[in-house]
Amino acid sequence: MMIVPALVALGVLARPASAAVASTFTAPAAAPTDTSPFYVGASNGTIKNSPLVPGKVFDRFIQIWLENTNYAAAASQPAFRELSAQGITLSSYYGVTHTSEPNYLAAVGGDFWGLYDDNLVAVPSNISTIVDLLDQKDISWSEYMENMPYDGFAGFNYTNPDGYTYYVRKHNPLIMYDSVAQNTTRTARIRNFNDFSVDVGNNSLSQWIFVTPNLRDDGHDTTIEYASEWLTYWLPSLLNDTNFNNDRTLILLTFDETEIYTINNQVYSILLGGAIPENLRNTTDNTFYTHYSTLSTVQSNWDLGNLGRQDTNKTVANVFSFVADVTGYKNLDVTDIPLLNITETIPGPLNPEYYVPYLAPTNGTGGGSGPTYIAPGTNMSLNAANAPAPVNLTAQAHTTGVGFRDAEVSRMGLCACVVGVAAVVSALV
Ligand SMILES: *[C@@H]1O[C@H](CO)[C@@H](O)[C@H](O)[C@H]1NC(C)=O
Ligand SMILES: *[C@@H]1O[C@H](CO)[C@@H](O)[C@H](O)[C@H]1NC(C)=O
Ligand SMILES: *[C@@H]1O[C@H](CO)[C@@H](O)[C@H](O)[C@H]1NC(C)=O
Ligand SMILES: *[C@@H]1O[C@H](CO)[C@@H](O)[C@H](O)[C@H]1NC(C)=O
Ligand SMILES: *[C@@H]1O[C@H](CO)[C@@H](O)[C@H](O)[C@H]1NC(C)=O
Ligand SMILES: *[C@@H]1O[C@H](CO)[C@@H](O)[C@H](O)[C@H]1NC(C)=O
Ligand SMILES: *[C@@H]1O[C@H](CO)[C@@H](O)[C@H](O)[C@H]1NC(C)=O
Ligand SMILES: *[C@@H]1O[C@H](CO)[C@@H](O)[C@H](O)[C@H]1NC(C)=O
Ligand SMILES: *[C@@H]1O[C@H](CO)[C@@H](O)[C@H](O)[C@H]1NC(C)=O
Ligand SMILES: *[C@@H]1O[C@H](CO)[C@@H](O)[C@H](O)[C@H]1NC(C)=O
Ligand SMILES: *[C@@H]1O[C@H](CO)[C@@H](O)[C@H](O)[C@H]1NC(C)=O
Ligand SMILES: *[C@@H]1O[C@H](CO)[C@@H](O)[C@H](O)[C@H]1NC(C)=O
Repeated sequence: MMIVPALVALGVLARPASAAVASTFTAPAAAPTDTSPFYVGASNGTIKNSPLVPGKVFDRFIQIWLENTNYAAAASQPAFRELSAQGITLSSYYGVTHTSEPNYLAAVGGDFWGLYDDNLVAVPSNISTIVDLLDQKDISWSEYMENMPYDGFAGFNYTNPDGYTYYVRKHNPLIMYDSVAQNTTRTARIRNFNDFSVDVGNNSLSQWIFVTPNLRDDGHDTTIEYASEWLTYWLPSLLNDTNFNNDRTLILLTFDETEIYTINNQVYSILLGGAIPENLRNTTDNTFYTHYSTLSTVQSNWDLGNLGRQDTNKTVANVFSFVADVTGYKNLDVTDIPLLNITETIPGPLNPEYYVPYLAPTNGTGGGSGPTYIAPGTNMSLNAANAPAPVNLTAQAHTTGVGFRDAEVSRMGLCACVVGVAAVVSALV
């Protein structure tokens, strides 16, 4: 098995985000509120939510993530310009690293743990996510994953009957965290698009929602033009549907990362929805935000606790300013924008060349006034103050024959042979 980490190290580190050939979007149904056999799994009935918990500025936050697009490319699209006219364009919003997967991890866990590729990962259950903070206040949440076959599906990807792989785990942020993936109450809230139509139809959407379109619709395997066609099918009619967007709804449309790695990671992002004051529609906000701002904004709105990760790092976690203006959160005026295109060299438990263990959260202040959440099973003695220096496990593997991926695989309790092969394959593509 020592060949696996060697391949991981040599194979893919500089792999760019890919955008392949264009083709034309075909609507899977007459409207996004209709179910479709294309979405695969039949609906599982309406989701059950706890009673609505009012926020200070919004009662529902919906994130919609597209893929691998430079700011200028999205800005040039009529579909995006039309949406911008209805909302607040965030002209200084950034992804936090490359590749895709670490950005999704960061958006719910406040860190990407040093990851720099799209391999199979499972973050251990002593690591918290936004779900822990929401659950503490009984604020309902769910994810909607297009072409995910059934609720809580944990597989690496899924291929439709037409032979195309539309769904990938690496774009499903919460399933990559064991604190969610190993709890069936929680996995039932990771739902597919047929559930979405039923939940909208029954006016039962949750209060925190993450939406991932499939690999073609999000632009990953296609182009920004294709993603714009999907967006035009999906979003404008939902913006008019009060079961999706009412006067207490805030929507963030964004991208995980830029396509090109050699520029900083600025992605075109728009805030939409009825919660945006009339006088701020068709305006631009040039405050510096990152994916961590989605955590601090939600914390600020519901006065939650924090994760003690980058959500408490004032530089990278400004709260969306129209929200901060109401909650009283003081944003930082960041004039020297950090480089957020750095990849491969950031230490963490998912970086075999700069490995440090999963550390306990650092006590800090997030968007809300609540305390730092400590997950059950956290070793508080293993923390940032006494963290061991990063070690190169890949180098160690060459001498001991035991590698990083082997350790990951055995910890995940999966069949080492199958996952080992998957790691080799994904390292080679
Ligand atoms: C409401 O939910 C039920 C199942 O829970 C489903 O059969 C029905 O079609 C849904 N209604 C709409 C309008 O989607
Ligand atoms: C949006 O603002 C621009 C000027 O910045 C203006 O030209 C355009 O007409 C406005 N659009 C709408 C829909 O208000
Ligand atoms: C419905 O939910 C149950 C419980 O979470 C799950 O076992 C089942 O796979 C789900 N079915 C579909 C079609 O999503
Ligand atoms: C699973 O999640 C539910 C809902 O957040 C929580 O109440 C329960 O304690 C969790 N179970 C375990 C074993 O962590
Ligand atoms: C949404 O509503 C607006 C205002 O009523 C209307 O102009 C627009 O055509 C509607 N869009 C869709 C897609 O239904
Ligand atoms: C990151 O972006 C900056 C431009 O802002 C560029 O100078 C730098 O070379 C990029 N870094 C990498 C690793 O590509
Ligand atoms: C906060 O974020 C900045 C920019 O990414 C980074 O340089 C700094 O190290 C971070 N601070 C902490 C404590 O993580
Ligand atoms: C964490 O920080 C808060 C203030 O931010 C403080 O009140 C609390 O005592 C600290 N807790 C620990 C365990 O250090
Ligand atoms: C979290 O769990 C992982 C896996 O069991 C372990 O390696 C790590 O030391 C733990 N970290 C903390 C801070 O508890
Ligand atoms: C907790 O972390 C400390 C510091 O790394 C370590 O010495 C200790 O063995 C850990 N405890 C457990 C139960 O893993
Ligand atoms: C880690 O070790 C491997 C194998 O010896 C080596 O190729 C790589 O350059 C090392 N990485 C760093 C950051 O030193
Ligand atoms: C799907 O997963 C299999 C391994 O399980 C892998 O061989 C294949 O490359 C993956 N495809 C995509 C598009 O991720």
